[in-house]
Amino acid sequence: MTALEECLAALEEAHFGLGFSSGMAAVDAVFSLLRPGDHVVSAEHIYGGTSRLLDEICVPRGISVTYVDGTRPQAFAAAIATNTRLVWVETPANPLLQLVNMAAVAEVCRDAGATLVADNTFASPFFQRPLTQGADIVLHSTTKYISGHSDVIGGAVLTNDPELHKPLRFYQNAVGAVPGPWDCWLSLRGLKTLALRMRQHEANAQVIAEHLAEHPGIASTIYPGLPTHPQHALARQQMDGFGGIVTFHLTGGTEQVKRFVGALRLFIFAESLGGVESLVCHPATMSHATLTPEQRAAVGIQDGTVRLSVGIEDAHDLVEDLDRALAAC
Ligand SMILES: Cc1ncc(COP(=O)(O)O)c(C=O)c1O
Repeated sequence: MTALEECLAALEEAHFGLGFSSGMAAVDAVFSLLRPGDHVVSAEHIYGGTSRLLDEICVPRGISVTYVDGTRPQAFAAAIATNTRLVWVETPANPLLQLVNMAAVAEVCRDAGATLVADNTFASPFFQRPLTQGADIVLHSTTKYISGHSDVIGGAVLTNDPELHKPLRFYQNAVGAVPGPWDCWLSLRGLKTLALRMRQHEANAQVIAEHLAEHPGIASTIYPGLPTHPQHALARQQMDGFGGIVTFHLTGGTEQVKRFVGALRLFIFAESLGGVESLVCHPATMSHATLTPEQRAAVGIQDGTVRLSVGIEDAHDLVEDLDRALAAC
């Protein structure tokens, strides 16, 4: 575990790294910094499991949470109160790929004395290192791009701040939600090809996003590498690449998504992401099923929203697969 922790810390330009048995165990460890009476400001576009932990576990323990539009740094400033201890962001966010302006939000947090936590699972340290942009803590579900082969569940927390590392390290040891040696070995083996994989994920995602953006059967396509993405300029500025996730909306709701997924041959229907194989996920019934329909609607997740985790296969085979399934649905 120490070898994995040191490797991840080096990749994120952190002094300290901590390994966990899942991304959610890593999230839980960060929330262990909170005490009754503390307040959290979170971007509203975050992984459903993270908001569930906040709403169902933290709030009953006397912690309050305010969700804000993560694309507006002013919204964080407006929500911060004297008891705000943590600010939580995910950029790009799951599943609609909104970005948080890290430099601007970091400045807001510094002024308020709040700890800024960035979930960097979607970008991986290959495309973005939030600690260099003002975040105090970076978090990963290493289940995804870090391990890269959909055969490990793990998490990590990285920081440069000894005052944050100390209680996190204590909690990691006290609770014991740590990865086993085999998972650490698999993650380290995955990391050897992180750069190669991320380049290929991105190249394939760009081809697919451009293709889907022109497809008459699709209402809209979201990818930070498309000039039509509302934060394309910010993505160019704060990221070294646009990542491997492409999201799009079908107008026919869940029934059309079922027909689409049923007709795919290469994309595997699965909730995870970041593996070498291409995956397709229906956020409304999978990653964000824990939100109520009203909560999903409020954050823009429709019944027809489809999230692709684009793998490293031949891009043209993937485009062909998507075209066939779109024709069939
Ligand atoms: C952005 C993000 N953070 C955290 C998690 C939780 O990670 P894990 O599944 O390893 O517990 C996920 C899982 O999908 C995720 O997408």
